[in-house]
Amino acid sequence: MTKPTTRGTVRMRRRFGAPALSAMCWALSWALSWALSSTASAQPANPPAAGSLARGEYLARIGGCASCHTMQRDGIPFAGGRALASPMGPIISTNITPDPDHGIGRYTFEDFRRAMREGIAPGSKHLYPAMPYTAYAKATDDDLQALFDYLKHGVAPSDYAPPPTKLPFPLNQRWALRFWKAAFLPRGTYAAKPAQGAEWNRGAYLVQSFGHCGSCHTPRGVGFQERGYDESAKHFLTGMVNDNWYASNLTGDLGAGLGRVDGAAIARFLRTGHGDGDAAFGSMAEEVEKSLQHLTEADARATATYLKSLPAQRNEGRYVPSTAATRSAAQGNHAGDVESTGASVYRSFCAQCHQADGKGVPGVFPRLAGNPALLSEDATSVIRLVLAGGTSPATAAGPAAQTMPGFTSVLTDVQMAQALTYTREAWGNDAKPVTTSDVSKLRKQLK
Ligand code: HEC
Ligand code: HEC
Ligand code: HEC
Repeated sequence: MTKPTTRGTVRMRRRFGAPALSAMCWALSWALSWALSSTASAQPANPPAAGSLARGEYLARIGGCASCHTMQRDGIPFAGGRALASPMGPIISTNITPDPDHGIGRYTFEDFRRAMREGIAPGSKHLYPAMPYTAYAKATDDDLQALFDYLKHGVAPSDYAPPPTKLPFPLNQRWALRFWKAAFLPRGTYAAKPAQGAEWNRGAYLVQSFGHCGSCHTPRGVGFQERGYDESAKHFLTGMVNDNWYASNLTGDLGAGLGRVDGAAIARFLRTGHGDGDAAFGSMAEEVEKSLQHLTEADARATATYLKSLPAQRNEGRYVPSTAATRSAAQGNHAGDVESTGASVYRSFCAQCHQADGKGVPGVFPRLAGNPALLSEDATSVIRLVLAGGTSPATAAGPAAQTMPGFTSVLTDVQMAQALTYTREAWGNDAKPVTTSDVSKLRKQLK
């Protein structure tokens, strides 16, 4: 005789079989979760798999979400409050932690997708394009889903309420942004170019979507829109001043562009802030430190492959090392001459780090001879460095961070202009002189 309980189970197994049993359990739990979610819609769904969270975290890093959505000093990660300079005035980033009242805890995926693609937050709140949705609009649904899962389940909620953005009338009329978007927001997610390889397409996707490189590197038009969102536009990534830093030309120009920099050095620069004897500075140093150092080697290579495919678009600055020896004889009292005032300022204040021959110290102090960052027509960045100094990025894979001191109270505007003009004309460098009024103007702006 078998015990009744066992017999019952046995009989049930025989009647339904194991798969039917698990299907019943599944149906029950589904019904239960449906009942729960219909009574409490903010109830979190099952957390996504760890692999998907890691992918979302990667995209959040490359996309710079944490750096813009976190206050610079002692900020709570993703809780917002950072004021971003814009020509319209400061725009303050919002809390995107999963807090239901102050963050995006009540967002559905559809809400998130709309914010990322169309710049519309729940409640029909049109977002200022200081949030680079013009780039994120190109991200795939899968990537947005992974990013959303990470923000919902991988980030600690915070009830910090950042101060609201207050722009003067009429800029505070958010509804008017709909016209801006109708004119300037690119449509459609990234479409792979079948004529190009997988690596190129991966690079193009990263640069145009999550990397939002164009938001700093592409010149803007009268409507503050980026003048092009991919390689088909002539002005795409050809250089732009933002927040008093000049983000350089990333096309193939031989002077101030990437024409003389090979792909491996570009990939290294993105992950370490040091490529071919140069050092990332200003807003790029932050970009490298907080975001791009986390690029996988393959993604850094893909990004470099894509950048190296961009044809030269602007002809500014030159580097002709063979002219270095002959120039002073041929051009008389040229500013690049070793006898000039600029040269003596350079020898006294700059050469201990950048060296008399402008070659720097590899991995420590950047070279100035042939450095593309020094050769752009727009000298805003290098003037700002000399005025205020800078610190190269600290990364896991790169050399230690180094600081260049600011010379605001050490050198006059005239001396700075002379020293910079010298560096732009010595050792085979050939770029426009820096004038005293360029320096004075920036000094005032930075105050
Ligand atoms: C360059 C700075 C910057 C970067 C990078 C950035 N954001 Fe934003 N984001 C902002 C600003 C500023 C706002 C507020 C805009 C406004 O008030 O109109 C904002 C708003 C948002 C909102 C709307 C929140 C709400 O309900 O008001 C979401 C969602 C968001 N960002 C998500 C992200 C994600 C995800 C990333 C990374 C892929 C990201 N942001 C990267 C600056 C940035
Ligand atoms: C927040 C603004 C900002 C963003 C976003 C940004 N950059 Fe930059 N970038 C700069 C500035 C400013 C410079 C000039 C300073 C320097 O050379 O480090 C620069 C310089 C560079 C250089 C060095 C150029 C040279 O002449 O050696 C490369 C390469 C570069 N950026 C690539 C990228 C890529 C790729 C992206 C997107 C994944 C990107 N940047 C996103 C601001 C930015
Ligand atoms: C104590 C060492 C030191 C001195 C002195 C110094 N620099 Fe620098 N310089 C650096 C470091 C370090 C960087 C990288 C800064 C960064 O990444 O923010 C740099 C960056 C630069 C750059 C940008 C190149 C690049 O690829 O990052 C220029 C241009 C420059 N310095 C010019 C000058 C001039 C002109 C002077 C003299 C007025 C000077 N420097 C004095 C250490 C120094």
